[in-house]
Amino acid sequence: MSISKKPNYIIRSMGLSDCDEVRELWKGAGFTIIKNVNEVFMKLDPEGLLVAQDQDTGKIIGYCGAVNVSEDFAVIGGYCVKPEYQGHGIGNNIWNSGMAHMGDRNIGLMAANMKMFEIYRDRHHFKCIREPILYMRGQLALDTDLIDHIKGVSLVAINEDNVRDVIEYDQQICGLDRSVMIEGFYKTADNVSLVAINDRNQVLGYCFIMETCVQSLQLVAPLYADNCQIAELLGHKCCLLLPLSKRSDVIIKCWKSDHKAIQLAKKLGLSEGREQMGGYTKVIPQTNVGTNNIGWNNTVEDTVHGVKQVLTELTAKLPDTKVILTSILPAPEPRGSKCKQVTELIQQFADNKTVTLVS
Ligand SMILES: CC(C)(COP(=O)(O)OP(=O)(O)OC[C@H]1O[C@@H](n2cnc3c(N)ncnc32)[C@H](O)[C@@H]1OP(=O)(O)O)[C@@H](O)C(=O)NCCC(=O)NCCS
Repeated sequence: MSISKKPNYIIRSMGLSDCDEVRELWKGAGFTIIKNVNEVFMKLDPEGLLVAQDQDTGKIIGYCGAVNVSEDFAVIGGYCVKPEYQGHGIGNNIWNSGMAHMGDRNIGLMAANMKMFEIYRDRHHFKCIREPILYMRGQLALDTDLIDHIKGVSLVAINEDNVRDVIEYDQQICGLDRSVMIEGFYKTADNVSLVAINDRNQVLGYCFIMETCVQSLQLVAPLYADNCQIAELLGHKCCLLLPLSKRSDVIIKCWKSDHKAIQLAKKLGLSEGREQMGGYTKVIPQTNVGTNNIGWNNTVEDTVHGVKQVLTELTAKLPDTKVILTSILPAPEPRGSKCKQVTELIQQFADNKTVTLVS
């Protein structure tokens, strides 16, 4: 039953003792969030985990995770208000506090449903829309057709000896330092993890299966690998680490266009379920210019001129866009010295406001 008068509440950063109550809130909202995400994110950005608390009852009535992941990137998650407290401005209030905390960072989120997606897109300017995520969900069917061995590849649990290598591998894929998360999740009891390594101890992929806030629902994520075979081996073996009681309801969230990931989820016994939409506040276009021009025998001057043209058009068409200008990767001679010269010359385009140079 909805409350009739405006509640007397405060918004504050959450503490460890609030975690159970927030999980209950999420369960009530139908979310399938990683169970211990708040305990882990508290080490990353404690001020970004916001709760609304009813001052009369002491109960947590709303939550918004507005976590600063890096200097320029933040994520929103778990945003909800207890049903009986909705419609009194608590949602807007906690959302605005989260937004203020994240400042000018690029913010990413996934919307719980289509209505919320439209609100984020049309009202809150989440303009860079990601392709949908497809929920692959069901009971695991780990039959004998699944890859269970690859010559020269060993699987070990993520542990303190290999975690730095896993973090580095993850960073190469995501472009983000997610060390706090990976460190936190492999140490969380009940999560299972495996890393695939070759005989030179190089990481070829890794996989986690995590508990969610919904009892008995397990989430396979992240799962990254150098190729489909290693991904299948990792997914298969990680699932086998789950006790039988935890194999009846498992989710893998795949990009809708990622047919290989969807195929793997199907092989593990999961079926297509709902889709989820999301977006970012800033557009992150990626364009590769420079190296191919040199490869096609353009002069250094023409290549630099081309980079300048692309930057001019990009920033004119997308004025809110932050551009990351990277050096051209080293190449064998005769291209090598030309690439070096281009890299030196394009540094002048970095104003450290719109265009930042990363070498
Ligand atoms: C979305 C939600 C957090 C808003 O909380 P609230 O306290 O009711 O929000 P407010 O009273 O401050 O209203 C904020 C705005 O949210 C929107 N809103 C409110 N209830 C909503 C609902 N059930 N679904 C979608 N949007 C809703 C309204 O557009 C409102 O806009 P207004 O400023 O024009 O009135 C709350 O409805 C909720 O918990 N919903 C279920 C969980 C959910 O979907 N969370 C979003 C995850 S992406």
